[in-house]
Amino acid sequence: MSYLTLNSIKKKYSDLAVIRTISLSIEQGEFVVFVGPSGCGKSTLLRLIAGLEDLDAGSITLDGQDITNVASSKRDMAMVFQSYALYPHMTVANNLSFALRQAGLPKTEIKRKIDKVAATLELTPYLERKPGVLSGGQRQRVAIGRAIVRNPKAFLFDEPLSNLDAALRVDMRLEIARLHRNLGATTIYVTHDQVEAMTLADKVVVLNRGVIEQAGAPVDLYENPKNLFVAKFIGTPRMSFIPSRVVSVNELSTTLESEQGASITLGPTPLAPNDYIQIGIRPEHLILDNPENADHQGDIELVEKLGSDTFCYIDSQLGRLTARLPGNVRVNPGETVGLHLKDKSLHIFKEHR
Ligand SMILES: Nc1ncnc2c1ncn2[C@@H]1O[C@H](COP(=O)(O)OP(=O)(O)OP(=O)(O)O)[C@@H](O)[C@H]1O
Ligand SMILES: [Mg+2]
Repeated sequence: MSYLTLNSIKKKYSDLAVIRTISLSIEQGEFVVFVGPSGCGKSTLLRLIAGLEDLDAGSITLDGQDITNVASSKRDMAMVFQSYALYPHMTVANNLSFALRQAGLPKTEIKRKIDKVAATLELTPYLERKPGVLSGGQRQRVAIGRAIVRNPKAFLFDEPLSNLDAALRVDMRLEIARLHRNLGATTIYVTHDQVEAMTLADKVVVLNRGVIEQAGAPVDLYENPKNLFVAKFIGTPRMSFIPSRVVSVNELSTTLESEQGASITLGPTPLAPNDYIQIGIRPEHLILDNPENADHQGDIELVEKLGSDTFCYIDSQLGRLTARLPGNVRVNPGETVGLHLKDKSLHIFKEHR
């Protein structure tokens, strides 16, 4: 049995089904990231796991025990929210030790634990300060430290870094990765940030309207999205899509027509004439060439130079496409370019939404 399992859990708020049957297995030490559009149920799912909300149906087990009806305070999980409230009148040391003092631990043991966690999070110089004079990142580390000292069975993070500025976010992301490597604690982490999801997760869970669309290793989701929703959700800039109709299929090739009327020839596919599909292509797989050398042509509408990469947004008879080029490439809006679609790197979705 897995360390943490959700078995067909459901949750409604009045008549709104927020979690519509979710099953998920999480291994001990695994770092699981929940992603999905706003309102899809990520926080609700976390709160159900923490026991802050009751399930309508299903069960949850943790470390071999059915915790479905166990009170939140007895579940031995630590939750860190986006808006972590530290006690402003208490020093960092007292903020960190609050739960341990409540639990009645001996003073010497509390001190040992606090010193250890402060060292791990590089908070030792600040132990006697109050939160008001700490930076955002230091406060965030205190909030995480408060969770760590309890030595919980699982950590639940709900967008813990979203209040921080970009540079601090990157620092804290690396810190969380380091912490997870050192502690090996089972962690569930909600974020809207693609980079956090891709870099921190052992397993990414893509949620949509209260169901799991796909769960798997980040690279697997990126390379093999199961459906259009996941394909659209994972990756920035996102995958481009060419809505098309299958014209004919034979043993050697498939001929399609794009919505804008371009003829597209692919290798053999299991498609049937008149299937409406979406051809998906990641920006790094769209190959640009001289217009006369390629089957398809398009006009560059917009160029984004990020230093390391250049993203070109192209208007073509295949539709709007995004290409990722090296940082130093010279391309300009208004240029006409040739486009190659390489069969191997294309994704075919038999969905037309
Ligand atoms: N206590 C509640 N009572 C009624 N409806 C709620 C309650 N909590 C959440 N909801 C609704 O449940 C749905 C899911 O909310 P939830 O907070 O889980 O979304 P989320 O995925 O965390 O979104 P976000 O990314 O914006 O934080 C939303 O439609 C929300 O309005
Ligand atoms: Mg939320």
